[in-house]
Amino acid sequence: MQKNSSALINGNFKSKDIISLDQFSPKDIKILFSLTKKMRVITSNSKPSKLLAGKIVTLLFFEPSSRTFASFSVAVKRLGGQTIEIQNPKQTASIAKGESLKDTIRTFEAYSDAIILRHPKIRAAHFAAYASKSVPVINAGDGVGEHPTQALLDLYTIYERFNRLNNLIIVIRGDILHSRTIHSLIIGLSLYSNNTIYLLSPKSLKLPKIDSFNLLKRTKIIEISNKEEIPKNAHIWYWNRIQKERFKRIKDAEKYKNMFVLTQNLLKTYGNKQMIIMDPLPRVGEILPEIDDDPRAVYFRNQIRNGMYVRMALLALVLGKI
Ligand code: NCD
Repeated sequence: MQKNSSALINGNFKSKDIISLDQFSPKDIKILFSLTKKMRVITSNSKPSKLLAGKIVTLLFFEPSSRTFASFSVAVKRLGGQTIEIQNPKQTASIAKGESLKDTIRTFEAYSDAIILRHPKIRAAHFAAYASKSVPVINAGDGVGEHPTQALLDLYTIYERFNRLNNLIIVIRGDILHSRTIHSLIIGLSLYSNNTIYLLSPKSLKLPKIDSFNLLKRTKIIEISNKEEIPKNAHIWYWNRIQKERFKRIKDAEKYKNMFVLTQNLLKTYGNKQMIIMDPLPRVGEILPEIDDDPRAVYFRNQIRNGMYVRMALLALVLGKI
């Protein structure tokens, strides 16, 4: 079997690598989201789905993960497929003996129908997709690059609340330089018209210049470094932790950790009634627990659950018999 080599989704997900949000158009996202809605129903059915029956998916995670790993694993199983699960391959797989990533990918390509890869190096997923000739590779986070499936579930969560993905005002707080979830979300939001994105970060953690951001010309991006600049009419506050593992010196990360922490006071001063509060998690101090019970906070509610539904829909479209 030869996999589908075209990078753009263009209405057809079958056998495609999912590497970056820039492969998607609003039409593709619409297809994904209408299936995502159905996945809710499948999950609550007592009879398991057979959409991925006979399919085996490798989860190859070189970096720690709770939600992405578990939700992909559950997504495959809920659709009747099976998984090969490798966490920490540096200790548990032949990588420990010095095997290259390319050879590891070719091995799991021989055993399974898709490979879901999380890796500390930017562009590792591109590399793996090139190495795998016959089975699709899904990027579950490539270092400081992208995290497309997280952005898809974030967009779904926004769509669920506002019934649109255009004409929105978003404030994103965090380590804009290193956060792959933020990179993919920005690309995703820029596929739609008239979104305004405020990037709230210290000046030294601003948006990097990478190719996929060519799209950003379409979107109004406003970089801010003071909480007084937060607009009071935002629809979404998206808070993400400082990515301390990406810093050469941990001490440098520590100094940013307590900046722009989401407290009740901040919410009262700059928030509004209609907004939602999101966080891809893990939370490492960027939102105080006092916010968790606020009905506007969706991070422990829909946002997590949507991760499973969106990944189910994506796997069904890439691999399933639909
Ligand atoms: C994110 C990641 O790994 O990039 N986690 C996730 O998958 N939900 C966000 C983060 O670690 O900050």
